[in-house]
Amino acid sequence: MSAAFMLEVENVTKVYRLGRIKVPALRGVTLAIRPGEMVAVMGPSGSGKSTLMNILGCLDRPTGGAYRLDGEEVGKKSDRELASIRNRKIGFIFQSYNLLPQLTALENVELPLIYRGLPARERRRRAEEALVRLGLKDRLRHSPRELSGGQQQRVAIARALAARPEVILADEPTGNLDSRAGEEILAVFQELNAEGITLVMVTHDPNVARHSERILRLADGRIVSDERVRPQERISARELLAVLPAAEEGVNEK
Ligand SMILES: Nc1ncnc2c1ncn2[C@@H]1O[C@H](COP(=O)(O)OP(=O)(O)O)[C@@H](O)[C@H]1O
Ligand SMILES: [Mg+2]
Repeated sequence: MSAAFMLEVENVTKVYRLGRIKVPALRGVTLAIRPGEMVAVMGPSGSGKSTLMNILGCLDRPTGGAYRLDGEEVGKKSDRELASIRNRKIGFIFQSYNLLPQLTALENVELPLIYRGLPARERRRRAEEALVRLGLKDRLRHSPRELSGGQQQRVAIARALAARPEVILADEPTGNLDSRAGEEILAVFQELNAEGITLVMVTHDPNVARHSERILRLADGRIVSDERVRPQERISARELLAVLPAAEEGVNEK
């Protein structure tokens, strides 16, 4: 079963409470994203981008309004159901990679598959497959601190992919990377999107945003614009990589 919209947000509000103070982070956001879309979310710091991503990713619940993920109303689910939906459908990628430093690349990718109840051999197979796909065949047993930022982010993407998500949510995924390493990540995103994965990424950088087909802008907890990127203005990461100066040592070992 496939809904017309993969992500459907209706008049969503989010109010954080800090003791007695209420901080309104989202003030009525309405938004629908189709299966297979690639969307960038922009907006000044504090405008609610991460709050929106956390709600889309079922990491947090809205205070008001409705959120449907692949046609299912998320607000009415228990925490357990929510975690299960998140595990099945969503891959999350953060600016800071969020890898466990004491585990190898391979173990980092395998870890969330444990929660999916996959047997050890299948976990290993999927984790290797994902890491090889991300160009990390020779880094399976490296620990995160033995990897460059770009490589760590690719491990994080492999970790998301190994669970075969329908949706990837990335919160400033290239924020800590130099332009070549960032472009490599965007190339992967465009490839995954071409294969049908719905992708939403937060960025401050208009050139990063132009890799997507649609750009949303938030300000002060509201959507203030929602524009299509014209095909002739859309950046192809693969084409750009072909003309960018050569990679820093060790990053482009694919
Ligand atoms: N856990 C939290 N507790 C209280 N206030 C928060 C929390 N997270 C975010 N906020 C506030 O909500 C607003 C939106 O934050 P956020 O979604 O992180 O914005 P962005 O990602 O666009 O920088 C800000 O005013 C921020 O200070
Ligand atoms: Mg943020």
